[in-house]
Amino acid sequence: MKDVTVVGAGPIGLAIAWRCAARGMAVEVVDDGLPGAWHASAGMLGPVAEAYFGEAQLTALLVESAKRWPGFAAELGAEEIGYRAEGTLVVALTGDDLAEAERLRAYQAGLGLPITPLRPTELRDREQLLSPRVRGGAHAPDDHQVNPRRLVPALRKAATAAGVAIVRESGPAGVTVIAAGTGSAALTGLPVRPVKGQILRLRAPGHQPPGFSHVIRGYADGRHVYLVPRLDGEVVVGATVEERADAHVTAGGVVELLRAAADLVPEIYEYELAEAIAGHRPGTPDNAPLIGPHSDGVIVATGHYRHGIVLTPLTADLVADLVETGQLDPILGPFAPGRFA
Ligand code: GLY
Repeated sequence: MKDVTVVGAGPIGLAIAWRCAARGMAVEVVDDGLPGAWHASAGMLGPVAEAYFGEAQLTALLVESAKRWPGFAAELGAEEIGYRAEGTLVVALTGDDLAEAERLRAYQAGLGLPITPLRPTELRDREQLLSPRVRGGAHAPDDHQVNPRRLVPALRKAATAAGVAIVRESGPAGVTVIAAGTGSAALTGLPVRPVKGQILRLRAPGHQPPGFSHVIRGYADGRHVYLVPRLDGEVVVGATVEERADAHVTAGGVVELLRAAADLVPEIYEYELAEAIAGHRPGTPDNAPLIGPHSDGVIVATGHYRHGIVLTPLTADLVADLVETGQLDPILGPFAPGRFA
């Protein structure tokens, strides 16, 4: 019998399994073979730019997990997983966009988070490809990125090397950890719903690195968009947020994303449109995660919504602590799985 069975082979499940195995536990991961939300995810690690009004406890969790990312990436091989630390530029196209971006930036700065306002010339000094129409923005130096499609194979490798068995069917175990994203609802009865996101992958000519290196989080005529540049020439452009469970890519979704992205970085008109897919974020009634004991012998780590990649290191460490010691870190208090009962 295993000490721990982890149901779910996305970043969260694999990282939990890896951390538990590193502490000497016998661990298996149940993988249904289907790509989860991570397969669509851009991999932004944005604790500052994603610190939204009314989410102070979630922001604290994001900040704590982001602090662990440099060490976590180094363990896996930062280059191998596409970890980049150039930071994020917030970019606003119109006066109204700038007013909206500034409100949030002032809130974030008021929390003591590192984000500095930038004038249009200062933005273009950092990224010359930005449109001359851009009215202003900000720099969030601690908001980094990773490539989830490299992260997951690296986690599988690390977990396997630590002795984790990856299986199709679960066997008996002392503790079961449910980390199955949107599939967690059927396994636990907890309120996890799919929130559709359409996302694009563009490719710079000649597979050269794109002409910008920061993650760009844009406000463009009332639309929100992000552009995530990779060294292999890929630019991820995302994402729609739709209360739907279908996986269709729509013409409207693609047009809106491309229009907003090209308004900010016109050069992308020349890029190849390499992929357009839809994924499903695991959302909860308050869009904050469910992490902690669920029932006898069952722990859940799910519902990470828009923050699964940034929250991976902290979730893994704290769930491994919980499995090993039975103690729940107080930072997880607000994220109890039973809070909607
Ligand atoms: N975290 C980005 C997204 O959910 O689209």
